[in-house]
Amino acid sequence: MTQPPPDMPSSPEEYLAELQRQVFDGWEQGADFFDERWGDQGDEFHHGVFAPAAERMLGLEHGARVLELACGNGGFARRLGRQGIQVLATDLSPALIAHAERRTETISDQAVDVSYQVVDATAERQIVNCGGPFDAAVCIMGAMSMPALRPMFGGVWRVLKPRGIFVLITLHPSFATSGYRFAKSEEEDEPHGLTITRYLSRYVTHGVTNSQQKEPQIYFHRPLNELLADAFASGLVLDGMEELAAPEQPMAESRLMWNVLPEIPMAIALRFRRP
Ligand SMILES: C[S@@+](CC[C@H](N)C(=O)[O-])C[C@H]1O[C@@H](n2cnc3c(N)ncnc32)[C@H](O)[C@@H]1O
Repeated sequence: MTQPPPDMPSSPEEYLAELQRQVFDGWEQGADFFDERWGDQGDEFHHGVFAPAAERMLGLEHGARVLELACGNGGFARRLGRQGIQVLATDLSPALIAHAERRTETISDQAVDVSYQVVDATAERQIVNCGGPFDAAVCIMGAMSMPALRPMFGGVWRVLKPRGIFVLITLHPSFATSGYRFAKSEEEDEPHGLTITRYLSRYVTHGVTNSQQKEPQIYFHRPLNELLADAFASGLVLDGMEELAAPEQPMAESRLMWNVLPEIPMAIALRFRRP
């Protein structure tokens, strides 16, 4: 019998664990770079598009208790905290959590009720151990880094109050994680659209989010029907959706080019409710 090469995973579980290790290494090793890039309030996409959409969809009141998954260096958690919302913000990367804590300690203008914890959102038990019940949960631009989503949906269902809300914002599966290329003729400096060559199957892809990144990040493409199937399997119900285009102003890292395609949503915001 032919033996697999030594570095080849021998089971689907081992393969998933190996992918998760690559995800962890990518964020952990890039933590200082990303912290500097995102600053206190997140990059142009985050504070210009994602955070306002998440706030609209969450519709939180003063004193609400929120669990954030994949919080990065805590920009959205601090934004909610400044509005009088209690936040437990969590992330896979201990180095990013350390940056989030440091940035939150230096808020001197007001008291914010924001705390942080290292949590792998692909481990349902770790989400459940965050306590609860929460009025809402939120995950902004983390899902495409997760090799499996069912544990997150299942964990969120278990920590939400009945009628509690989960807002998930992620790269748009139809456009931004599919096999897309920017469509551009030789005469054009900027793209006029996208060419999409594959969409319906799951696959692992790599992406560069900025020109200084040392290693490409690993991303998991899943078509929209599969993303939703994972949520519905947990019992969550979809009750809101927005499709989000990039801000039109030139971005610091303009090589990303989404800002010249205002008709193409590079992200999707989904609001689920626990019945
Ligand atoms: C693109 S960043 C988004 C950070 C932040 N939510 C924002 O919008 O600025 C993706 C984040 O997902 C985190 N992440 C990736 N896989 C994760 C997992 N399995 N559990 C929790 N966080 C994860 C990374 O560490 C990183 O902070």
